[in-house]
Amino acid sequence: MKVLLFGATGMIGQGVLRECLLDPQVAQVLSVGRRPTGQTHPKLREILHGDLQDYSAIEGELSGLDACCFCLGVTSAGLSEEAYQRITLDATLAAATPLARLNPQMAFCYISGAGADSTERGRVMWARVKGRTENALLRLPFKAVYLFRPGAIRPLHGITSRTKLYRILYALLNPLFPLLKRIAPDSFTTTEQLGRAMLHAARDGAPKTVLETADINRL
Ligand SMILES: NC(=O)c1ccc[n+]([C@@H]2O[C@H](COP(=O)([O-])OP(=O)(O)OC[C@H]3O[C@@H](n4cnc5c(N)ncnc54)[C@H](OP(=O)(O)O)[C@@H]3O)[C@@H](O)[C@H]2O)c1
Repeated sequence: MKVLLFGATGMIGQGVLRECLLDPQVAQVLSVGRRPTGQTHPKLREILHGDLQDYSAIEGELSGLDACCFCLGVTSAGLSEEAYQRITLDATLAAATPLARLNPQMAFCYISGAGADSTERGRVMWARVKGRTENALLRLPFKAVYLFRPGAIRPLHGITSRTKLYRILYALLNPLFPLLKRIAPDSFTTTEQLGRAMLHAARDGAPKTVLETADINRL
């Protein structure tokens, strides 16, 4: 399987990259991002591309791919709906639209979030925008689209978030994770479980299109 990865420098993307490099069924990983991952591996190839809204300059590199794990994203904190939507909906579609045309056999795995609002009309801004993004992806002619809606994610194997707020939060939560996981197992996952679940869905499919934390942990 050839996997295309967006957001490989982020917390979730680092987890997916790790699982891709460990998985013998992944033959090649192509990472597209504005910064290098800092990793070297025979299976990994990187394209540095800074324009989130236009991939035409690298389209020649974006065919012959079986799966896309789209882990690029930002927190909505401090952003207007327009600004958040530009990085969430617009940037995702700018990548996904040419990918669907170039790779009709591709499975597209999108990192959304627990509470994403499929009605697009709820009161929570980030949830509306994630819901809009999910619905737009479902309209593209991919072989399959999987929408991952994780809740809290424990970063493992030295992985950290690019977002300062999350780094602080996870540092505080880290000692409590084992207890929290025992009390509410369906609310917590790890970067490892999420990475493995995305690869599983991409390769073998999943029982549902929308995968909440409990589904992610079961895959
Ligand atoms: N962390 C959680 O607990 C959690 C839970 C549920 C859902 N999510 C969702 O998962 C997604 C990723 O979260 P994360 O925790 O992995 O975030 P993160 O650690 O902050 O990483 C974000 C990734 O997106 C890239 N990115 C952000 N803005 C960019 C821009 N303007 N241009 C190019 N690349 C950009 C970053 O690249 P650079 O390294 O170049 O900045 C990085 O690779 C987000 O959509 C988030 O809402 C996260």
